[in-house]
Amino acid sequence: MSDQMATTTIDVLSPAVYADGPPHRQFAWLRANAPVYDHTLSDPNLIERSWVVTRHEDVRMISRDPETFSSADGIHLRRTATHQFRPNMINMDDPAHQRIRKLVSSGFTPRVLRTFRTHYGELARQVVDRALAGGGTFDGIRALAAELPLLAICEIAGAPAEDRFRIFEWSNVILSSEDPDYVPTPDAFQSAVMDLIRYAQELADRKRREPGDDLISALFEPDGRLPLSDEEYEGLVLLLLAAGNETTRSAIAHGLLGFAEHPDEWAVLRDDPEGTLDTAVEEVIRWASPVNYMARTATSDVELAGQVIRAGEKVALLYSSANRDEAVFEDPDRFDVRRTPNQHLGFGFGSHFCLGATLARIELRAIFEVLIPRVSRFELAGPVVRARSSFLNAIKELPLRVA
Ligand code: HEM
Repeated sequence: MSDQMATTTIDVLSPAVYADGPPHRQFAWLRANAPVYDHTLSDPNLIERSWVVTRHEDVRMISRDPETFSSADGIHLRRTATHQFRPNMINMDDPAHQRIRKLVSSGFTPRVLRTFRTHYGELARQVVDRALAGGGTFDGIRALAAELPLLAICEIAGAPAEDRFRIFEWSNVILSSEDPDYVPTPDAFQSAVMDLIRYAQELADRKRREPGDDLISALFEPDGRLPLSDEEYEGLVLLLLAAGNETTRSAIAHGLLGFAEHPDEWAVLRDDPEGTLDTAVEEVIRWASPVNYMARTATSDVELAGQVIRAGEKVALLYSSANRDEAVFEDPDRFDVRRTPNQHLGFGFGSHFCLGATLARIELRAIFEVLIPRVSRFELAGPVVRARSSFLNAIKELPLRVA
């Protein structure tokens, strides 16, 4: 995109723009010419205006300063979504945020999760066995990418594995609410939220009666009460079930797409899995940026890159752009499974840093580790269909052929 490009042609927040993938050329132009950009939005479902922050350094700086850039007014630019997701930790500031985060964080520590590595490897093997059983052509989303994150989150929450199909549908509607395929009417969004809330309540009732070795059972006080209001509990389950599977599914899907488009990188990984798997997982997350942005709200007037952001105004942190910032990443558009260092911001930064990052990394590693000896080549067997969403970089259909 030329330096003369008029800012009137910039649109990095309309969902439709993302049907063909994130607008990386516009991001590059913004980083170079307008790193803190005043973006007016024409979509009536989105709030009418937001600042767009595209440089790695600025995204980090804002994420580190929750007092000036608050999460409490929502992290989504879609009005209904912002409203429905409250109250939950992602939409809270400290100390309320820390209170809820602490209740569940012991289940997500690297030490606890590492003990499950072998188990996730076994689940990954079952998923890959099922996907490859049909002759080598399949939808990479439903047959492969979606399965392990759903099985893992069901186990963690203590939900029966067969409920994963319902959770898959609800998460699509709730998280990709901008996409008319998933949400043809506002009612569809509302009813998915209500169904998931009802499901969360049923789960709590069941766990109160018959506790298990799972996160929901562990929440209960000895007297059988939850240390959360009903709304806080519902928000927590909604966040864990939906966010915990959609984003990881997207990361795996983008990884499969990356390897189909770059067979040489798959060969590098196959040549030296032990030496390359960890860096490959980080590169998949950087390259995919499953979460496109998270928003903040300024709590006071603040100057950034020569712009004055006023108290109450929204700021969107474009992780997809920060993760391709040439000031930080050499040859940023290259998919390079050996990339080191790789200081991507795919899991966010600061006090809201993704609670599920270790889990997501283990899942990605498990899936690719199982695929390495089984697949020598990925090929696209049809068009890739992406979600129409500027919030998540999700893929809806990924027809794959493997050899
Ligand atoms: C590759 C997969 C994933 C990606 C790219 C991702 C991305 C993110 C990002 C960018 C944030 C920061 C939000 C902010 O700063 O406003 C976040 C927060 C969060 N993520 Fe993830 N996530 C992934 C997987 C998971 C999984 C598997 C779980 C849970 C099972 C999870 C649970 C959470 C929770 C609970 C938060 C809120 C943390 C807080 O507010 O303190 N995520 N995630």
